[in-house]
Amino acid sequence: MAETINQWAVITIVLSGIALVIGVYFIRTGNREAHMRAMLTASALATVFLVLYLTRLGLGYEKKYIGPYRGAYFALLISHIILAAANLPLALGALWNAWKGLKAAGNLGNITAPAAAPYFRRHRAWVRWTVPVWLYVAVTGWIIYLLLKSYGEVIKGG
Ligand code: HEM
Repeated sequence: MAETINQWAVITIVLSGIALVIGVYFIRTGNREAHMRAMLTASALATVFLVLYLTRLGLGYEKKYIGPYRGAYFALLISHIILAAANLPLALGALWNAWKGLKAAGNLGNITAPAAAPYFRRHRAWVRWTVPVWLYVAVTGWIIYLLLKSYGEVIKGG
């Protein structure tokens, strides 16, 4: 049961990373509407991930790493955990400014309107951090999952 939840958690966070990359591609090619949809999809998938992850924690499922290069594994794990915690406020800051900007603009064709422009300026400032952190968390999450699949020993739950 916990193993299945874990698998779905990894699938949702990887899909959220893919939606994020697609969303960046859309804004680079000037498709704001598609950008918004891709980013809302990425955020929804990350929310599902969080629910699954917390459920798994609640079930008390834990694995211990018993492979080689333990120092490197823990450096990866700790950086992943710190940046995963930072990702939530970063994503909320990006979404909040995009939402306020959209409300002020009325539609996505009007983002340079004086009332909307400062929000999108702040949106750009937030996403400069949000996107790399999110990608790092998604990629390292996947690596940690694969490492634990080969070198993990269940110590609690299962
Ligand atoms: C957490 C989710 C989101 C992330 C990570 C994100 C990421 C980005 C990125 C990387 C850019 C390009 C920044 C640049 O050119 O320097 C951007 C621009 C933009 N985003 Fe988002 N975005 C998100 C959600 C949204 C949403 C929900 C909307 C719609 C309401 C939106 C509307 C826009 C617009 C209109 C721009 C162009 C701003 C401009 O050129 O001034 N974004 N976003």
